[in-house]
Amino acid sequence: MSRTLDPQLRRALTERIRYYNELGIYDFYRREPNAELPREPETSVVEDPALLLRTIREDLGDCTRCPLHQQGRKQIVFGVGNPHAELMFIGEAPGADEDQQGEPFVGRAGQLLNNMIKAMGIQREDVYIANIIKCRPPGNRTPEREECETCSPFLMRQIAAIKPKVIVALGAVAAKTLLAINAPMSELRGRWFDFRGTKLAVTYHPAFLLRDPRQKKETWKDLQMVMKELGLAVPAKAEP
Ligand code: URA
Repeated sequence: MSRTLDPQLRRALTERIRYYNELGIYDFYRREPNAELPREPETSVVEDPALLLRTIREDLGDCTRCPLHQQGRKQIVFGVGNPHAELMFIGEAPGADEDQQGEPFVGRAGQLLNNMIKAMGIQREDVYIANIIKCRPPGNRTPEREECETCSPFLMRQIAAIKPKVIVALGAVAAKTLLAINAPMSELRGRWFDFRGTKLAVTYHPAFLLRDPRQKKETWKDLQMVMKELGLAVPAKAEP
């Protein structure tokens, strides 16, 4: 009986078969489920977040969906980190360093974000980091609504693939885009939001903290709230 495969499942299977082919495996047999035996829990290939992320990256391609592709971007900055991360940080847009290196938060703001992550008792490699938009806006201007609306569906798919326990929106642009609300940071911080069934906290953007380090204390309170939710021990040391 011929069955039509869902395109996402087809891509995931193609990817998995390509991987086995690279290992020199070409023959595949379908095992019928044995009703006598207790069923093993199935890990579907389509639920593998690493595979899903690769599919999303492929779908994004050499994106020309918004004008940013013609405005000096060097490369697309997709996202980085653990596909199984419980914690996801979402910033605004790549800057010059990120555009150069193809990775989010690698410049000065990124160094501070790394320190914030370390202060939580975890490593950058444990979390997943992405931005609302994946291309650098010229002169680091704030992303425009059309750019956010065009690009964020890919971020939504990344979130759905990773299924983090907690999302931290870094700064007002990330918070307002994800939550579709227009409120000052004072009303967004220090509390939980529901983002499509996932807990979302908002804190100051590291680039803002570089300009106003006095707000690090407040940021640390936000991160402690996140740590509690994730069951991470709050270290005696204060502030990143
Ligand atoms: N600022 C952001 O919002 N994202 C980055 O990746 C770097 C700086």
